[in-house]
Amino acid sequence: MSKVKIGVFDSGVGGQSVINAIQKAIPDLEIIYKDDKAHVPYGSRSVAQIHEFVRPIFREFIDDGCQAIVVACNTVTTNLIKGLRQEFDIPMIGMEPAVKPAAQQTESGVIAVCATPRTLSSKRYRWLKENYAEGVEVLEPDCSDWALMIERNRVEREKVANRIEEVISKKADVVVLGCTHYHWIEELIREVASGRAEVIQPEAPVIAQLKLVLAQLV
Ligand code: DGL
Repeated sequence: MSKVKIGVFDSGVGGQSVINAIQKAIPDLEIIYKDDKAHVPYGSRSVAQIHEFVRPIFREFIDDGCQAIVVACNTVTTNLIKGLRQEFDIPMIGMEPAVKPAAQQTESGVIAVCATPRTLSSKRYRWLKENYAEGVEVLEPDCSDWALMIERNRVEREKVANRIEEVISKKADVVVLGCTHYHWIEELIREVASGRAEVIQPEAPVIAQLKLVLAQLV
């Protein structure tokens, strides 16, 4: 029997970390990975620009025979997934900042969301905060240069550590990784936050959702 084929998309290396997690959980899948190295990082671009970039790529996934697409990019999910779902007739599993679980977990009433500027300015992200984080203080540290730093494999550990120290000093006890590029520095962030703040990201629920979608295909 031939394997089910799915597409995974991110602007750059963030999606690779998600693929690693998917392959561990569901090894018998054929995964086609596409990124957009010519235009990464997306996080500082306009929504219209990003839309123009991703359309032909999503079309290619369909032409390649993919049966579902994992949008392993918070920036694309929070700004565009609704429209992309209307445009393309294929199940899509998005990734967005885990505001709801963070708001449920916090004991201090303060959480920090690390994400790209375009994710933080999206309507969807605002909706997540209004609906799930009422009464919780949501800190949004400046991570605007992190995606590129990770894409180029030039992580400035001290810079990242300082940002995390800053939010912890403001009482954040949950740190949300709201950009898949940051999954590559999850260990570093965990080390810095150790014993003081939880670090969460949405791979596990995304894999659970992907399993549900796959079950409906066969
Ligand atoms: N990895 C992407 C995200 O999850 C986007 C990073 C970027 O291209 O700025 O948001």
